[in-house]
Amino acid sequence: MTVRRITTHRIQAMKDRGEPIPMVTAYDYTAARLADNAGIPIILVGDSMGMVVLGYDTTIQVTVDDIVRATSAVARGAHRPLIVADMPFMSYQVDARTALRNAGRLVQEGGAQAVKLEGGQSAVPTIGRLSDAGVAVMGHIGLTPQSVHQLGGYRIQGKTERSARQLVEDALAIEDAGAFALVLELIPAELARDITSRLRIPTIGIGAGVHTDGQVQVLHDMLGLSLDHTPKHAGHYAALAPIIEDALRRYADDVRERKFPTDSHSFFADESRVTSSVTSVERDERETDGQ
Ligand code: KIV
Repeated sequence: MTVRRITTHRIQAMKDRGEPIPMVTAYDYTAARLADNAGIPIILVGDSMGMVVLGYDTTIQVTVDDIVRATSAVARGAHRPLIVADMPFMSYQVDARTALRNAGRLVQEGGAQAVKLEGGQSAVPTIGRLSDAGVAVMGHIGLTPQSVHQLGGYRIQGKTERSARQLVEDALAIEDAGAFALVLELIPAELARDITSRLRIPTIGIGAGVHTDGQVQVLHDMLGLSLDHTPKHAGHYAALAPIIEDALRRYADDVRERKFPTDSHSFFADESRVTSSVTSVERDERETDGQ
């Protein structure tokens, strides 16, 4: 059975119907399959992978190759969600040709249906060029982590009247340039509500309050797997780090105490040694058949 992939038009229809849009990050095949099974309509292959997967202290070190590789794994795992690939730092800021080439890689090699890039007015011409070339673009304003050094840290944006007005103008210009959706990160909830009500396209919030059209979460934050820091705006849906650590500790103890593996995990030339009713050959066949 062929699965129909969610399109940008369906995402727009969700906003038009007033249906909230959940979005989550994923960076590998397994997480993407789980997100697809869970009915998540948009997966973001975010450059947050720099921190939660690659162990960098910012997103700035992430390369186009990193995102292409992760996106192709996600695309193999998720067949229904719309896949949005983040454009890494300096992959789109230099000039429009570079942006087009790199967006093309994320779509053609990675298998993304859309790309996301950070920035207000300065990103508008690039969003226009990409949209003209047929690339679906998601904008991203407010806290833009690739500019962390310029912003002086991961701070709430749009708190003054002037900066709030600027963000409203940025949002409108991004919509006019052809973006199909806009991420609002770490801005006051009232401002996010104002922007959301002025835009035709959906807004996706993170740390932007309850009034955006959708929400996005970093997978590791919401699953309790971010070991260094979990931001205030993260939802807590599982606490997997201690569970995984405990499993690994018990496994290591079992190996040290020679409790693992047992005969039931082993293969024998003489099958009569297998104590369970299922032979190792049958087990292998079942595994191959995915049973
Ligand atoms: O890279 C990422 O995970 C993001 C989200 C925080 C929106 O850009």
